Amino acid sequence: MTEPDGKPFLYVVVCAAGIAADVGQLIAAAQELGWEVGVIATPVAASGFFDIGAVEAQTGRPIRSAWRVPGDPRPFPPPDAVLVAPATFNTINKWAAGTADTLALGTLCEAYGLGVPTVVLPCVADALAAHPAYQESLVRLRGMGVRFGDPYSGEVQEGGGRPEFGWERALDLL
Ligand SMILES: Cc1cc2nc3c(=O)[nH]c(=O)nc-3n(C[C@H](O)[C@H](O)[C@H](O)COP(=O)(O)O)c2cc1C
Repeated sequence: MTEPDGKPFLYVVVCAAGIAADVGQLIAAAQELGWEVGVIATPVAASGFFDIGAVEAQTGRPIRSAWRVPGDPRPFPPPDAVLVAPATFNTINKWAAGTADTLALGTLCEAYGLGVPTVVLPCVADALAAHPAYQESLVRLRGMGVRFGDPYSGEVQEGGGRPEFGWERALDLL
């Protein structure tokens, strides 16, 4: 839902991949384009994969990870769009299967029924991506209209170092 200040609201769903430490780059790029951002982290991601305090300061909102208690107000307005970055093997497979046992997964499962545009930047090692369940999950989610960035394995290249994750790709796909 568009915020009172006229800005559209973006959910950034953060999963427990090592690259999540740099999610501030995505938030900054989204804010630059005029999005108001709220972050939903998986419980594992929120347990130390990125700097919670820095991201809360950047978005001006608490990070959501656990379900709210019945009766509590919804901390975020409804989303105009959802970005999942980085997206793990685990979350992609559970989302495709319709599992909603974390707030992040429940939010993703619901986005389809609400017709909210959803974009994913996977960060999945080649050895995991080869699993047939993962390939089936991608087919299923693409069939639901979910847009995917190119595969990113995070593997160290020859000569050391990892390729750029390219956080801004997510915004181009929206
Ligand atoms: C340091 C570290 C880095 C990880 N990086 C990745 C990764 O890039 N991609 C991935 O799919 N899983 C990665 N994992 C494994 C996930 O954290 C694990 O599967 C977890 O259950 C995912 O939870 P979530 O999908 O709820 O965030 C990593 C684990 C650790 C400890």
